[in-house]
Amino acid sequence: MHMATILVVGGAGYIGAHCCLDLAGRGHRPVVYDNLSNGHESFVQWGPLEIGDLHDRSRLREVMDRHRPAAIIHFAALIEVGLSLADPLSFYQNNVGGTIGLVSAASEAGIDKFVFSSTCATYGVPQATPMAEDHRQVPINPYGRSKLMVEQILADLDALRGFRSVVLRYFNAAGADEGGRIGEWHDPETHAIPVAIEAAMGRRAGFTINGSDYDTRDGTCIRDFIHVMDLADAHARAVEHLLAGGTSATVNLGTGTGTSLLELLDVVRTVSGRNVPVARGPRRAGDSPSLVADNRRAKALLGWEPKRSIEDIVTSAWRWHSSRNTG
Ligand SMILES: NC(=O)c1ccc[n+]([C@@H]2O[C@H](COP(=O)([O-])OP(=O)(O)OC[C@H]3O[C@@H](n4cnc5c(N)ncnc54)[C@H](O)[C@@H]3O)[C@@H](O)[C@H]2O)c1
Repeated sequence: MHMATILVVGGAGYIGAHCCLDLAGRGHRPVVYDNLSNGHESFVQWGPLEIGDLHDRSRLREVMDRHRPAAIIHFAALIEVGLSLADPLSFYQNNVGGTIGLVSAASEAGIDKFVFSSTCATYGVPQATPMAEDHRQVPINPYGRSKLMVEQILADLDALRGFRSVVLRYFNAAGADEGGRIGEWHDPETHAIPVAIEAAMGRRAGFTINGSDYDTRDGTCIRDFIHVMDLADAHARAVEHLLAGGTSATVNLGTGTGTSLLELLDVVRTVSGRNVPVARGPRRAGDSPSLVADNRRAKALLGWEPKRSIEDIVTSAWRWHSSRNTG
């Protein structure tokens, strides 16, 4: 595949930055567009940073006209499920309204190849495990609904005028660049692995298990943790699929293996050699008991396979968090 310029929207954030690292390693040129609301300027190391907001159509057009990207990868969104329950309108405005601005600008600029960060949260409560892409989609929180709406918009645009998209439904992104340059950095941090690591480091009082009475093998929630560099690899493959003339597709990205919270805490203890103090709390609104991917389509369509284990995930995350001075 020849070198291409890719506009990475939300590329100063956790997954987007890892994706830029991977794209650059393949000889592509990632151009980051981000308003830095939740991203980090220091994460933009593999191409130029263009600061701007999803809602700023003229700024988007200016950046697209300057860099002439062959495709767009769209990571920019509000992501915290709890916040989406407290403030749904911000989520619909940013995740749905902002994406409408982005795809409108892209269409004006003649860009018709688009990779979108969707999520297993669009499925809601599993009817079957593992979940394939044709599993029914009944999201149980505004965050998941905002992502499902964008999926539907993209399908409409493909039918209308051949706007090509690959919708990637990630399960739980985790881990960090093995070179230690970037890692997971959300503020506030609510994701299980960084929270457990910070508890092991003594940077927080402990880890609270939200619900121990789920109908799962040990009563705690089961998640499919996928290494962020495996995710990045899949994005590059999705872009290359579109650049090669491939049609629109929807693809799960997970390992196919579930890890319960108790099992995860054991891995964190083993990798870190430290204790993780645990408290038990009530179930959290909007949480699904179990989310595990059927990832066969990603293998068939993109030739993609996750290469890193849960131990690799926690080891790389531990290294990243250890190298940071602040919690
Ligand atoms: N982290 C996960 O486990 C996970 C799972 C499934 C899906 N996703 C999706 O992946 C994407 C990336 O997640 P992440 O964990 O890297 O999040 P993140 O918050 O680290 O990154 C999102 C980036 O988008 C930027 N952004 C947000 N709103 C913007 C706007 N209006 N204009 C310009 N930039 C804006 C932020 O500044 C940030 O840099 C999101 O769309 C998220 O919904 C994440």
